[in-house]
Amino acid sequence: MKLCILGGGGFRTPHVYQALLADRATPRVTEVALYDVDASRLATMTAILREMGAGHPDAPTLVPTTDLHNAVAGSDFVFAALRVGGLEGRCCDEHVALDAGVLGQETTGPGGLAYAIRTIPVMLQIAQVVKDLAPDAYVLNFTNPAGIITEAMQGALGDRVLGICDTPSGLGRRVASSLGLDPARVQLDYIGLNHLGWMRRVLYNGRDVLPELLADDARLGALEEGQLFGLDWIRTLGAIPNEYLYYYDFTRDAVRSIVSSGATRGDYLQTSQTEFYERAQAVDPGADIASLWRSTVDSRSASYMAEARGDEPGTESDEWYESAAEDESAQGGYAGEAVAVMAAISRNERTTMILNVRNNGTIAGLPDDAVVEVPTTVDANGVHPLSTAQPDLRQLGLMLQVKAVERHAIAAATTGSRDEALQAFALHPLVDSVNVARELLSGYIARIPEVAAVLTR
Ligand code: G6P
Ligand code: MN
Repeated sequence: MKLCILGGGGFRTPHVYQALLADRATPRVTEVALYDVDASRLATMTAILREMGAGHPDAPTLVPTTDLHNAVAGSDFVFAALRVGGLEGRCCDEHVALDAGVLGQETTGPGGLAYAIRTIPVMLQIAQVVKDLAPDAYVLNFTNPAGIITEAMQGALGDRVLGICDTPSGLGRRVASSLGLDPARVQLDYIGLNHLGWMRRVLYNGRDVLPELLADDARLGALEEGQLFGLDWIRTLGAIPNEYLYYYDFTRDAVRSIVSSGATRGDYLQTSQTEFYERAQAVDPGADIASLWRSTVDSRSASYMAEARGDEPGTESDEWYESAAEDESAQGGYAGEAVAVMAAISRNERTTMILNVRNNGTIAGLPDDAVVEVPTTVDANGVHPLSTAQPDLRQLGLMLQVKAVERHAIAAATTGSRDEALQAFALHPLVDSVNVARELLSGYIARIPEVAAVLTR
């Protein structure tokens, strides 16, 4: 099978390749087209992948290219992980919002909307190329904000595009491990939109084990979510919120922590990632760049969300995400999830996974064509949401409002309308005044050329 990775020069590509090397069953991926607009990053990543593939006689062939058509043509699967505007764009997403006194974050709040608005047109062009040159391919979208991007692409590709996020399954795995249970055997009752959802039950042999965890001070306190939300709030909710709900439930605290930490996550990554690519390019041919990548990726995982905890960005925590690197190289993480979806579809090995798919009546209060993040069955027939208990009013209310916002962002990106963009910012639950929304709109247009290029009307 041919796999195409869009954004192949990106920092997490080696995780995908490692997961492919570990995949032994048939059919498996034999060719990987790596596409990126940045030839030098592409060369760095290709060198790392070749290093990883050495010693594997059946390692998938690597075809690096900056030609989108060649990359996509004839693919069985397309993975998409791009960052339009690069890390510089991410920094502006965060800072324009913080300057306006509201949350500045990669995907949650106005930053995610600015990110979506400039990314959607690029992803729609890609969707058209897939439709023309790989009409039977499944697109596994990691590009953030994953829910919005997936929904926009479904307009062209329908159910052949689905969105992947590692946070719901990561939470499920950590819950299971904390109770000493095999993560592969738990069933997760999760509902939400991407980066906005709740783990309501964790079933093991037909029994919900979540109440056991919620009652256990030591175990709940050791869980990242226990530290973020506090034990009392989780117990009050009776469910474990996705870590991104922190930005909704503790908005002021999050903004204060980010501001007092001195720099945003984007600022930290821009420095550390630039340094990584520079160092990788400077080493002698044949030197061990894979180990440089490994140590850089470990620090990145260990410092995830540091600024939300009030730590200086880049501060590594022992407990926090200590298992993230392990997770990535084993079954978990974005790569593990994506390769598992691909295996289930191509080998008709039916499995259950939490994915971003078309609602189709799963959540009664949301439109059928809204993309939601819920448990699904995945097999050769595609991806189908499982029926589930309905959300409570707060959950539904928040999902409805954010979905309305997402749709204004999609309309802004597809029509170029500033009025639509203004509505997206103004209606967002984390933006508390229309005047702030106006400031955000003009700030993003002024600071991010890729946003200005889209919002022309
Ligand atoms: C998690 C989320 C991703 C997000 C990433 C940010 O994995 O699920 O959607 O992009 O964290 O991590 P970073 O290291 O870029 O801050
Ligand atoms: Mn995610």
